[in-house]
Amino acid sequence: MNITIRSEARSDYTDISLLNDLAFGRENEASLVEKLRKNPLFRKELSLVALFEGQAVGHILFFPVVVKGDKQDFSLLCLAPMAVMPEFQGMGIGGKLIEIGFKTARKLGYRSIYVLGHADYYPRFGFKPAGLWNIKAPFEAPDENSMAIELEENALLNKSGTVEYPVEFNDV
Ligand SMILES: CC(C)(COP(=O)(O)OP(=O)(O)OC[C@H]1O[C@@H](n2cnc3c(N)ncnc32)[C@H](O)[C@@H]1OP(=O)(O)O)[C@@H](O)C(=O)NCCC(=O)NCCS
Repeated sequence: MNITIRSEARSDYTDISLLNDLAFGRENEASLVEKLRKNPLFRKELSLVALFEGQAVGHILFFPVVVKGDKQDFSLLCLAPMAVMPEFQGMGIGGKLIEIGFKTARKLGYRSIYVLGHADYYPRFGFKPAGLWNIKAPFEAPDENSMAIELEENALLNKSGTVEYPVEFNDV
């Protein structure tokens, strides 16, 4: 299956919202992406679209967040949201989006990524429980769903604290 992955363009906005609506079965995540685009910290290089025969079938967004550090505040990328059109799920498109996302994040100088998500899905890409570094979720969530990955060895060494999501996440 020939899948192309690239940064989003303005002409993808409607398709990205639609595929998020379809994948999540609700409008909250599409609305989150639309709101985050207006945040000055948004980088279109970190909003990736997967295309099959020119059609947008998957999307992933990485967004910089602050971790209120126990010693010192620091920033990392959070992965949220990601979605693949229901009829295209289970074909490796999500995995490709994550892989290219990691490469892009490294290229842009990010050294670690946080995700609050499916405990059965993200560990296959190297995510580990964020509790290993004493990194806490931005709100009450089961420990197993709060995960992080070091893109560079020891990137999270001696880092700990509580992830702070931007206000745009409040309505999700
Ligand atoms: C999660 C999602 C993005 C994965 O995309 P994908 O293209 O289907 O993923 P891949 O093809 O790379 O990987 C498929 C694997 O992920 C697993 N998977 C998919 N959704 C999962 C879920 N909700 N929980 C656990 N595992 C899941 C599949 O069982 C499959 O496992 P297998 O390889 O052992 O058979 C996609 O299923 C989706 O859009 N789901 C709805 C929205 C969502 O939940 N987004 C993530 C929020 S944290």
